[in-house]
Amino acid sequence: MSNVISEDIERVLFTEEQIETRCKELAAQIEADYDDRGITPIVVGLLKGSVPFMAELIKYFRHPIEIDFMSVSSYAGTTSVGDVKINKDTDLSAKGKHVLIVEDIVDTGRTLAEVRKLFINKGAADVKIVSLLDKPDRRVVDIQADYNGFTVPNEFVVGYGLDYNQCYRNLPYIGVLKPEIYE
Ligand code: IMP
Repeated sequence: MSNVISEDIERVLFTEEQIETRCKELAAQIEADYDDRGITPIVVGLLKGSVPFMAELIKYFRHPIEIDFMSVSSYAGTTSVGDVKINKDTDLSAKGKHVLIVEDIVDTGRTLAEVRKLFINKGAADVKIVSLLDKPDRRVVDIQADYNGFTVPNEFVVGYGLDYNQCYRNLPYIGVLKPEIYE
């Protein structure tokens, strides 16, 4: 790994400008859906990958929202569905609320399928998902974000919240790592 993180990137998939533009579009689309019904949603970011995306997205909401965060992890070594561990639960109650889950990427879909179930079990009135990225080739569980920023090929991507070994989350764009970084 280089001392300058951008030097580890082979190519950029989405620039900061492209992401900003897409966040504005997504916020407008989401707001139209909620505001038409006079709803104040709880926007729940899944730590840590959603942080830059959530920060950018919520800037463009013109109507009231509540925000909260949750941290979950998959149990290592399991391939079954139904195994997420809650490291940090939301502070706000989701009961009767309209929940918008914010995720960095939908990969196998396992995490979101479980988190969605958790909120339904908590009595949320409605659960929707917004994801910055979608990697459909890797899907194991049949789940689709209600709102999606960009579709990515089956490659490991980093930046804008996404990490490799906890690194690269602070890159202001999304890119593919140079192969020698993995090797
Ligand atoms: P899923 O449960 O397989 O959909 O996994 C989702 C999580 O895996 C995401 O929230 C990411 O933290 C991580 N992940 C999946 N693909 C990538 C990638 O290409 N780069 C970085 N993290 C990824």
